[in-house]
Amino acid sequence: MNTATALASPNIALIKYWGNTDNLLRLPASPSISFNLAELHTRTTVTWESDLAADYILINGQEATGDSRDRVAHHLDHVRKIARHAGFARVESSNNFPAGTGIASSASAFAALSLAATAALKLQLTERELSILARLGSGSASRSIPGGFVAWYTGAHHQDSYAETFAPPEHWALVDLVAVVSREHKKTGSTPGHAIAVTSPLQAARVATAQERFDRCKQAILNRDFRALASVVEQDNHVMHSVMMTGTPALLYWEPETLHIMSLIRELRQDNGIDVCYTIDAGPNVHCICTAEAAGTVEAALDTLPGVLEIFRATPGGPAQLVAS
Ligand code: PMV
Repeated sequence: MNTATALASPNIALIKYWGNTDNLLRLPASPSISFNLAELHTRTTVTWESDLAADYILINGQEATGDSRDRVAHHLDHVRKIARHAGFARVESSNNFPAGTGIASSASAFAALSLAATAALKLQLTERELSILARLGSGSASRSIPGGFVAWYTGAHHQDSYAETFAPPEHWALVDLVAVVSREHKKTGSTPGHAIAVTSPLQAARVATAQERFDRCKQAILNRDFRALASVVEQDNHVMHSVMMTGTPALLYWEPETLHIMSLIRELRQDNGIDVCYTIDAGPNVHCICTAEAAGTVEAALDTLPGVLEIFRATPGGPAQLVAS
C-alpha cells in the first residue's frame, strides 16, 4: 500500500520570521530560531490511491473545502513533481490541540504532510530536503522537521533555505506556557501578513538587524543564559509587532489581555527574579517562555488574571517522524 503516517509538532519562534523575499517560494527576509512543542502534534496519514479523481482531504474528521483544501492539494502538487507521480491522495489529518489557540497548526500540518506524502511514495528525502519541501506549504513548517532548538537560514535560493538543529531538545529544560486569551480565528493570517510586511517603513531596519539578534539568541541558548535570552526574545518580538502595526493595512494582533500578560511577565522577571519572558505570534495569545524551575510560579501567576481562558504547557520536542498507521 502507498500509505504512511507522520507526526510533527508545532514550534514557537524565539527569533521571528516575518516577511519574504519571495512570497511564492516562502524565502524568508530574515533568519529565525524556534523549538518544537513536544506535547502537541499533528498526525497525518497520506494514502496515494489509483482510483481517486482528485485529492480527498479530511482535517479533524471534516472534509476540507475551499482555500484550506486548495493549499493542501497545491502542496501535494510539489510532491507529485518531485516523485514524478500522477495520482491523487487521500489525506487524513488531526491535531491533539484545538485550532484558534494561538498555536500555529500550519507548521505541524505541513511538516507532517511533507513527511507522510513523500514516505508513502517510498521517496527517501533527507531532513534538509524535507525542511525545504515543508517550507513551501508554510514557512515555519520548515522548522518543524528537525528536532530540538532549530535555526532556519534565510538562504538565497529555494535549495538553501532550510532549518536544522543546533542543540538537542534535552539541551535546556525550557517550558512554553501558552496563555490563551481568545479562541477567535485571527483576522489576517500569516500568508497575507508576510506580503504586507514590506509596506512598513520599519521592515528594512528589522531585516538589517535580524542577524545580530539571531546570533545573540543562538549564543544565549548554547550558554543556557536565560537573562540574555529574555532580552533578545522580547526585543525581537517587539520589533516584529512594530512592523505589523506600521504596515498598510496595519495589523494589530494584541488585545487588552495580551498587554496585561506582558506586564505581568516583565514584573515577574524584573521585580521578582523569575526566569520568564514572552513572545507573541500573529494573534493575541501569549507564549510565556520560562525555565522548568520557574514554570509552577509563572502558571500560578497567569491563573490569577481573569482574561486567561486556558494555559497549555509544552517543552522542547523532537523531529517530525514516521509512525505506524
Ligand atoms: O509559517 P507562517 O507563514 O505561519 O508564519 C509564522 C509567523 C509567526 O508565527 C508570526 C512567526 C514565526 O516565526 O513563527
